[in-house]
Amino acid sequence: MFYPIPLADNVFWIGTNDRRTHLFENLWPLEKGVSYNSYLIKGRHNVLIDTVEASGSDEFLDKISRVIGPEGKLDYLVINHLEPDHSGAIRPVIARYPEIRIVGNSKTFKILEQFYRVCDNLISIDESLTLDTGDRKLKFFLTPMLHWPETMMTYETGTKILFSGDAFGSFGTLDGGIFDDELNLSSYQDEIRRYYANIVGKYWNPVQKAAKSLEGTDIGIIAPTHGPVWRTNPGWILDQYLKWSRFEAETGVVIAYGSMYGHTEKMADYAGRILNEEGMRELRIYDASKTHLSYILSDLFLFRGVLMGSPAYNGGLYPPVEALISKVINTGIRNRLLGIFGSAAWGGGGVKALGQFAENIGWEMVGEPIQAKGAATEEDYSQCAAMARNMAKNLLEM
Ligand code: FEO
Repeated sequence: MFYPIPLADNVFWIGTNDRRTHLFENLWPLEKGVSYNSYLIKGRHNVLIDTVEASGSDEFLDKISRVIGPEGKLDYLVINHLEPDHSGAIRPVIARYPEIRIVGNSKTFKILEQFYRVCDNLISIDESLTLDTGDRKLKFFLTPMLHWPETMMTYETGTKILFSGDAFGSFGTLDGGIFDDELNLSSYQDEIRRYYANIVGKYWNPVQKAAKSLEGTDIGIIAPTHGPVWRTNPGWILDQYLKWSRFEAETGVVIAYGSMYGHTEKMADYAGRILNEEGMRELRIYDASKTHLSYILSDLFLFRGVLMGSPAYNGGLYPPVEALISKVINTGIRNRLLGIFGSAAWGGGGVKALGQFAENIGWEMVGEPIQAKGAATEEDYSQCAAMARNMAKNLLEM
């Protein structure tokens, strides 16, 4: 969309789509791209809500000009979040509109100075203050660590739009439409969860605090900094966030493994077959060497059952599995069922390290660790079957 899209009377989406960047935060694959959503409230005073990633600055300035006119004035920039995917165009905006006043909280301005050496024309707000622009009233919700210290949300009382920053956002570009009712949401659901799992998921407590502070606010539209704008069913995305922040999960199993020569992989496949025979239909099996851990982590937010397999590598975990479980521990996922397995040729160490992971993460185990020597024996497969049956029994009887 190369022109501004109205959300309400004189409130416009002026974001950009990014189909070029391969890795978000130089970490997370962007197979479906990402949008950087910014919004412009036109009125007696013109208010910009966040900016976009630096590469979109020219398009962004052009969109601003289309809304307020080439001689128009920008009065305020509200910074809900300072991560550079939303602040990359701040310097070009200040250069074009040097009189602009920048609205944020005390934590915003520290990072603003650190990142951009911008220290002037600042208006510091907190939750007790309303920014009255003459024909608009903006209220603020401070949401620290959702997912940076300075993150906040801005609520425009007349239109009931909540500009929510990264919260309620998604990977995936906005293709043609920007609203939940203009898009095929089923094609976004996995990317909404992958975004939550990898960017927000660690901050489950701030998510719940934010939800609590929003209680009682009449939210008509949720306008996040990435992905669809929620105008028809904002309650759906709110419910998803509450569910994920409580680590509620569906009946299903993720089997994630690493395998050099196929021994651990065969154990994973066999466990999968037994789970299926036991009636488990929701099952996803991933080779951690091939599937980026962000997708596996996303499914760990979806399903309650987890089988994790690793061969020994240099006396410890196979590196892709090590990276995965490091992210899982860092995220602090709770309330899952776990089985562990793997293969080793001589000293071992992979399954032992998975056992330490199990202790650290504190999930309920569905059996003893299974350690094959080289190719799994009939006895090893029998143990895999018992582990899978126990997993299925636990999940399907819940
Ligand atoms: Fe979309 Fe935390 O930046």
